[in-house]
Amino acid sequence: MSIPKLKSMLLPENTDAKAVSERIGELQGYIEMQQIYKAGIREITTKLEILDEEFNVRYSHNPIHRIESRLKSLPSTIEKLKRRQLPVTIRSVRENLTDIAGVRVVCNYIEDIYEIARMLTNQSDIKLLRMSDYIREPKPNGYRSLHLVMDVPVFMSDRTEHVPVEIQIRTIAMDFWASLEHQLRYKSDSDVSEKLREQLRECAEKSAELDLEMQSIYKLSLIHISEPTRPE
Ligand code: GTP
Ligand code: MG
Repeated sequence: MSIPKLKSMLLPENTDAKAVSERIGELQGYIEMQQIYKAGIREITTKLEILDEEFNVRYSHNPIHRIESRLKSLPSTIEKLKRRQLPVTIRSVRENLTDIAGVRVVCNYIEDIYEIARMLTNQSDIKLLRMSDYIREPKPNGYRSLHLVMDVPVFMSDRTEHVPVEIQIRTIAMDFWASLEHQLRYKSDSDVSEKLREQLRECAEKSAELDLEMQSIYKLSLIHISEPTRPE
């Protein structure tokens, strides 16, 4: 939504003008901030699409299965600031939160994850701020993914803004597991018994084995394809 449109919507005729203008000031700042984070998401998404296309042209292989992105909603941004006992201001968001802009990259194989991460972190215009490798060191519940937080420059009309973008890179199997675990997370603790949690942990292990097996089959199939056909 544009700022002028929002202003016209939020300025009912007989409201205290000072209070309204203060609210509009905050909202204007929030919308401007959202626009910058959205631009950061688009820059990262474009970079990923270019890498995927290049891989397809050079090696007939698409490392990326799917890209998703999201901007953290205003209620969950406020909730996170409050939970961490931080001030609920735009400045505080910019200084303390690194997951306002989020990009999820779902790959076919584990090696694709590290290739994508290597290619992205080698790009000179973006900077790696943090990397958490939950594939080498899964979370106790079994969660696996490679997380990067990149600093992305956004070129505005009169200045350059830098925003962090959180990138989660995972296989299809890791994504499948994470979505079920996320679903169960919303149930109360008593609903999700320890037995169910254990079952989920076991699933994560089996799923990781499946990822490795699928990758080795894929690699063998490549060798097979590139072998010259033997004469009869
Ligand atoms: P948050 O405050 O949750 O963002 O934690 P953090 O800043 O320490 O980051 P972390 O790397 O732990 O997690 C960031 C994001 O990864 C989460 O918001 C989820 O999207 C995802 N994630 C992390 N752990 C899990 C998990 O155990 N299960 C699922 N389904 N997703 C997870
Ligand atoms: Mg988060």
